Amino acid sequence: MIPKTHRRVVLARRPPAEPAESDFRVEEVPVPEPGPRQLLVRVVYLSLDPYMRGRMRDAASYAAPVGIGEVMTGGTVGEVVKSNHPDYKAGDIVEDRLGWQEYAVAPGPALRKVDASIAPISTANGVLGMPGMTAYFGLFEVGQPKAGETVVVSAASGAVGQVVGQLAKIAGCRAVGIAGGAKKCAFVKDTLGFDACIDYKAEKDLTAAVKAACPSGVDVYFDNVGGTVSDAVLANLNFYARIALCGSISQYNTADPGPRLMGTFVGKRVTARGFIVWDFNAKYGPALRQMGEWIRSGRLKFREDIVEGIDKAPRAFIGLLRGENFGKLQVKLGPDPGAR
Ligand SMILES: NC(=O)c1ccc[n+]([C@@H]2O[C@H](COP(=O)([O-])OP(=O)(O)OC[C@H]3O[C@@H](n4cnc5c(N)ncnc54)[C@H](OP(=O)(O)O)[C@@H]3O)[C@@H](O)[C@H]2O)c1
Repeated sequence: MIPKTHRRVVLARRPPAEPAESDFRVEEVPVPEPGPRQLLVRVVYLSLDPYMRGRMRDAASYAAPVGIGEVMTGGTVGEVVKSNHPDYKAGDIVEDRLGWQEYAVAPGPALRKVDASIAPISTANGVLGMPGMTAYFGLFEVGQPKAGETVVVSAASGAVGQVVGQLAKIAGCRAVGIAGGAKKCAFVKDTLGFDACIDYKAEKDLTAAVKAACPSGVDVYFDNVGGTVSDAVLANLNFYARIALCGSISQYNTADPGPRLMGTFVGKRVTARGFIVWDFNAKYGPALRQMGEWIRSGRLKFREDIVEGIDKAPRAFIGLLRGENFGKLQVKLGPDPGAR
């Protein structure tokens, strides 16, 4: 039964540094009615991602900021509960960017139908969604790994990082992760099968730790964090190394990123390339099919970190920027029809 009202989370104000729960507001509003060729979707899983910190800032970026009082932006997996579009019926599972809310009206053609027989439907927000595609294209198209090379990835236990290292192994490379804490490192090494994982919170000399874990130097660096972790990797780059500049989460709450070691790239002829996952939109189809096969065959593993209830979203998002999540962070807003 469709309720009369539902909850949503809006941006209440722009945080100058680390966000607080009071920067968000939970509102109860009427459930909207879909118009012609539109659908009403009940959101089951809301994806929480680091890029959302950028949307809270009123600054020029590759995407527009969320306005004050507007629903926070976010990827979603949901169930169609009412359809006025011939291509969709009630019960279909769909992936879209419907934001931090329990119900939303969506225009039919923008939605991707999710095949619940491949993997749990939450993976459409994770390994078989935006973060998985980020890993796939960032590594293969930007990093250009060759068998026998060494690939280092930071935030290695996270949504993107956990996939990058496993794909590097599939490509025949040595995969070295960097993550915060012994538990995350044990998961990266023992469960995901990386060759090594460095706990950046425990190491006194991170540059030496990277050198020890990468005896032949670093050929590809998949950079998720920036800051001092990346400096330690940059100091160990080989000639003609490639850097996939994916994100710099260590800097998202600060205004001053400080000096970096990019000057050393010159002598070593390093290629560094920034990318946004949607640069590769046109190639998603084959990539998703390939990743789905690797999941079905057990070659690609994934870990999700799921909290329950839309009111928990602000706190969980703040934790993501502190490294408190362990795997792809999502919020479960209601019953999962794929798990029935
Ligand atoms: N370019 C693109 O199109 C694209 C697309 C998706 C994601 N990204 C970027 O990819 C990166 C990873 O995103 P994700 O979704 O996979 O998130 P995630 O890794 O699941 O979660 C974020 C992780 O970052 C680490 N972290 C947080 N603060 C840190 C700090 N100060 N220093 C070092 N590490 C820190 C934490 O892990 P530890 O406990 O291990 O520190 C935390 O768990 C982010 O920078 C994100 O912006 C880019």
